[in-house]
Amino acid sequence: MSVVIRSTGLWVPEETVSNDELVACFNAYVEKFNADNADAIARGNVEALNPSSTAFIEKASGIKSRYTIDKDGVLDVDRMRPRVKPRPDEELALTAEAGVAAARDALERAGRDARDVDAVICSATSMQRTYPCMAIEMQNALGIEGFGFDMTVACSSGTFGMINAINMIETGMAKSVLVIVPEITTPQLNFRDRDSHFIFGDVAVAMLIEHEDAAGADGWRVLGRNMMTRFSNNIRSNFGFLNASEDPEPAFEDRYFVQEGRKVFKEVCPMVADMILTDMAHFGLKPEEMKRLWLHQANINMNMMVAKKVFGRDFEEHEAPVILDEFANTAGAGSLVAFHRHNDGFEPGEKGLICSFGAGYSAGTVFVEKL
Ligand code: COA
Repeated sequence: MSVVIRSTGLWVPEETVSNDELVACFNAYVEKFNADNADAIARGNVEALNPSSTAFIEKASGIKSRYTIDKDGVLDVDRMRPRVKPRPDEELALTAEAGVAAARDALERAGRDARDVDAVICSATSMQRTYPCMAIEMQNALGIEGFGFDMTVACSSGTFGMINAINMIETGMAKSVLVIVPEITTPQLNFRDRDSHFIFGDVAVAMLIEHEDAAGADGWRVLGRNMMTRFSNNIRSNFGFLNASEDPEPAFEDRYFVQEGRKVFKEVCPMVADMILTDMAHFGLKPEEMKRLWLHQANINMNMMVAKKVFGRDFEEHEAPVILDEFANTAGAGSLVAFHRHNDGFEPGEKGLICSFGAGYSAGTVFVEKL
């Protein structure tokens, strides 16, 4: 194989929301709801809402804070969703702007010009619109020739996007591909739902993937990759273009992300650990050769469980780095952001694994070796 991850780039919104701030807003909403519905609650017609807690969130998920495109809207108890100003069609769309910033960062770190790139893949949980493709808008803004397309595989969008780029380079279709993962997730989250209001954060990450001839001596050689999907309704959003034609039209709340967190946890962890070990054997790699696992970032306890099964032993934090404390769950971007932030200290020949998992279910593995 002669495909190399040349560089990565990151964009983060300016504003963050801590667990304490989020919980204070949620609990103010609960208090108001329970007061407004006191009679119905007393009659047993309406169920009282329970408060959220920072201690629960941190222990259950490892999340301490998250970036958001609009803090005021998220923390406004009468709104509890980010405020997004509509933009004229002539202006760069919000998610394209985030993606372009991450892509420019990746190009700059590689010392590459847009002219060096042949294709753009925009891969994320949700696209801002259906057409024209977000990737084509970003391609245009970056001044890249060639082609671009959008794709989506929920939390595995990042790795599946990478694997598409790797395949295109291996087949000779392109020499240099930008994979851009703009995950603007907070507008997809029901901030009034106690079970999930803390889960997501906004980010965009980009990865420049090149043929080894073009890449030169720097970067990460791809040693092997695999994709896997198994249908499950345990993480689902019914948001889609049919909503407006449905009678009755679904309520706003019914279009958000919903999950059976416990079931996801129980089903996904063994599935992913098995996949990693099977893939490793297939590519002639051994767990003891893996210096670091850059795992999907949904839940710290999931990562601990998967990493322990893969390593077959207790492990140090730096062997499976976690970015949840700062970023929360950033859907398809998580494992790529972990790689971006924590790929230091590798000698040539040392190996690691980028692995995503989540809704679908879906899971993707990309084994890499430092050049
Ligand atoms: N604050 C305080 N308590 C809460 C709470 C909150 N915000 N949300 C739930 N609880 C309570 C529940 O009521 C429950 O109480 P009970 O035991 O008295 O019934 C208890 O905490 C446990 O709830 P549960 O939903 O079972 O929590 P959990 O330990 O499974 O953690 C997740 C919840 C979502 C963090 C966890 O299931 C998870 O991360 N799953 C992985 C899936 C995932 O993150 N997917 C994202 C897409 S990839």
